[in-house]
Amino acid sequence: MIRDAHEANEAARPNDFELTRLRAALPGYFDKDGDFRLDRLQEALSSADVSMTREGYELKFLGKSYAKYLTSTRTETVVVPDVEHNAEATNAGSENLYIVGDNLDALKHLLGSYAGKVKCIYIDPPYNTGSDGFVYVDDFGFTAKDLVEKVGLDEDEAQRVIALQGKSSHSAWLTFMYPRLDLAKELLTDDGVIFVSIDDNEQANLKALCDEVFGEQGFVATVAVKNNPRGRQSNTSIAPVHDYILIYSKAAATAGIGGKRLTQAQRDEYKFEDENGNYRLLGLRQRGVASLREDRPDMFFPIYVNPESEEISLAEQAGWHEVLPRKSDGRDGRWMWGKVKCLAETDRLVAKFVARRGEYDISVKDYLNRDGLIERTKKSFTIWDDKGFNQQVGTQEVKELLAGDIASYPKPTPLLEEVVQLGAGPQDIVMDFFSGSGTTAEAVMRANAFDDGSRKFIMVQIPDVIDSGDAAYAAGYRTIDEIGRARITKAAIKVKNETGAAIDTGFKLFRLQEPSVKTLDEMQSFDPNEETLLLDDFVSKFAFDGTPGAQVALATWLVEDGFGLTAEVTCVELDEYELQVCDDTGYVIEPGLSSADAMALVAKLEAGELDLKRLVIFGYSVSFSVMHELKQNLRSLRSGQTVTVIERY
Ligand SMILES: C[S@@+](CC[C@H](N)C(=O)[O-])C[C@H]1O[C@@H](n2cnc3c(N)ncnc32)[C@H](O)[C@@H]1O
Repeated sequence: MIRDAHEANEAARPNDFELTRLRAALPGYFDKDGDFRLDRLQEALSSADVSMTREGYELKFLGKSYAKYLTSTRTETVVVPDVEHNAEATNAGSENLYIVGDNLDALKHLLGSYAGKVKCIYIDPPYNTGSDGFVYVDDFGFTAKDLVEKVGLDEDEAQRVIALQGKSSHSAWLTFMYPRLDLAKELLTDDGVIFVSIDDNEQANLKALCDEVFGEQGFVATVAVKNNPRGRQSNTSIAPVHDYILIYSKAAATAGIGGKRLTQAQRDEYKFEDENGNYRLLGLRQRGVASLREDRPDMFFPIYVNPESEEISLAEQAGWHEVLPRKSDGRDGRWMWGKVKCLAETDRLVAKFVARRGEYDISVKDYLNRDGLIERTKKSFTIWDDKGFNQQVGTQEVKELLAGDIASYPKPTPLLEEVVQLGAGPQDIVMDFFSGSGTTAEAVMRANAFDDGSRKFIMVQIPDVIDSGDAAYAAGYRTIDEIGRARITKAAIKVKNETGAAIDTGFKLFRLQEPSVKTLDEMQSFDPNEETLLLDDFVSKFAFDGTPGAQVALATWLVEDGFGLTAEVTCVELDEYELQVCDDTGYVIEPGLSSADAMALVAKLEAGELDLKRLVIFGYSVSFSVMHELKQNLRSLRSGQTVTVIERY
C-alpha cells in the first residue's frame, strides 16, 4: 500500500502522468519495449493532412517541471472511513462523499474509481489576492538535490523551486494549481465541464494554465459574475464589481452544457394550457433579419384557415381564408417554419382573427416542458448579473445556517445552483475540491429537490486549523472541514423542510491520513520472503481516528481498484477466515489466513460458489508459505478460471 507507493515514487519522473495518458490514448504508437514510435505518428499525421505548428508558444513559470512531477507521483496517504458517521441512518445509504484532506492526495485516490465519471467540477481556489492567506505549502520534504535527481532541474533552479515554499508569487500559485487541474481533467466525463472561480489577481495566469491543461479547444467561456454591485472601494481608480468563472471541458464542441433555469416571470409567460401542458404563443411569421420572401422563397406559402372552426390546413379548401406572411409595411415576408415542418406539426399552429386588420394571424404553440417532461431553459450569457450572485448573499446564508459570521467568502448558493444547472444533468456527479463551507453540496441538494434528480456530490476540504481568535473558533469549530460538514447537514434539513423532496441528505465521510514514520520504517524493513519476519498484526498500524486498520486498507484499495467509496462488500466464510469480496475481487487484509482457508478458497472457486478475477493480499498479513500455496493453486484451477494474486505492501 504505502510502501508500494513509496517505491513507485522513487522511480517517478515529471512526464510519467503525461506518458500514461499518451499510452492509453495511442497504444498503437508504442512498440513492445514501450518506446514511442514517433515515425509512425508523423506518417499518420502527414497522410491525414494535419497541419503542424512549431509556434513555440507556452506558459512558463518557476516550478513547472516540479508541478508535473507532483502529478506523476502516487499519494502516500490512506483513506480512513469515519465508521461511526457512515453508519448513521442518514449517511448509511448515501452516495455523496466528503473527503477531509489535501485535494492533491484526494484527486489521486479518486482517479482509481472516478476517472471519466465526474460530469461537473466547480472550484473556488485561493485567489492569491495577497490578503487571502494563500502561500505555497508542500510537505513532501524534497531537497534541492532530490529535485536535481528526480525532476532534472539544475542546481540553481532546484534551489529556487524549494524556496517557493511559503511564497505567494504567481509561480507559487501556478505550481499549486497545475497538478490539481491536470488530475481534475482526468476525472471529467468526455462531455464534462469544469468551472473555476477567480479574480483579476490570477485570471490571466489561470486562463493560460487551463489553455495548456485542457487545450485551447477545451475553452468554453469566461463569465464575469457581478458579485459586488457597490464596487470594491479599496481600488483607487476603477472599482471592480465582478470576479470571473472560467469554464473548460475536454472539448468545447462536445461539452455537455445545459441552459439557464427560467425565472418565475419567464415561466408565467406560458399562460395557455392544453393536454400537452403550458404554452405561450409565438408568431409564425419570421421577424427581424432575413425575414423577407426573397431571403427564403421556400418559406413563403399560403396557410388556410376555416373561418367557422379556425382549423388550419396547408391544402386549399373552398370557403377557407388564405393567410400569407405579410409584413406590416405590406412587403412579402416569410414563415419561420418550412412547409414540411408546418405539415408535421399542424397541431401546434393556432389561427386568430385580428379584427383591426381584418385578417388572420398564425401563431405557434411553444411549450414550457420539452417532451412534456423537462422544463425548457435559456442559453446562458457571459455576464452573470443576478441579485442572488452578490457575495453578501453567501455570507448571509452561512450566517443564518450556522448562527454566526464564521466562513470566509462563501459563494452564494444561487450562483452554485446556476453552475450545477449548466454543468450537471439530474443523475450526474458534481465535485468541488476546494469546498470551504460546502456551498456546492447545498446547490446539488437544491437542484435535486427542484427536478427530482439524484446528482451526487464529492466535496474535498483540507483540515485547515482555525485561529483561536476567529469567530468560528468561539463557535466551537477547530478546522474548516467541521464548518463545511455542519453547513451541509443544516442545509440538508433546510432544503428538505422547504421542499419536502425525498433527496439524499447525507454523505459518507473519509479522512486522508499519513502513516507514522515508525510504521513506514517497519514496512520498509519487512521482507516478504522471510517467514520468521511476519509481523503479527501489521494491519492495526493503519488504524486511525477509531477506525480499524483493516477498514482503512479496504477503503484505500476499493477506491484504487475502481469500486468507489460507497461500494458494497460481502464476507465469504472460508475455513475459519472471512474473505471480503467486492464484485470480482477478494481482499485478504486481516492476518490469520491459514493453509486450510487457502484450500477452502480454492474449493469454492472450483465449485463455482465464488467467481473471482483478483485476490488482493495485504502482504504483511499472510505467511510466506500460505502465500506460496495460494499463488500455486490459483494459477491453475481445475475449473479453468484464473485468479490473479496481487500482493500489496
Ligand atoms: C475560497 S475557499 C472556497 C469557498 C467555497 N466555495 C464556499 O462557498 O464556501 C477555498 C477553500 O479551499 C480550501 N483549500 C485550500 N487549499 C486546499 C487543498 N490543498 N486541499 C483542499 N482544500 C484546500 C481552503 O481551506 C478554503 O476553505
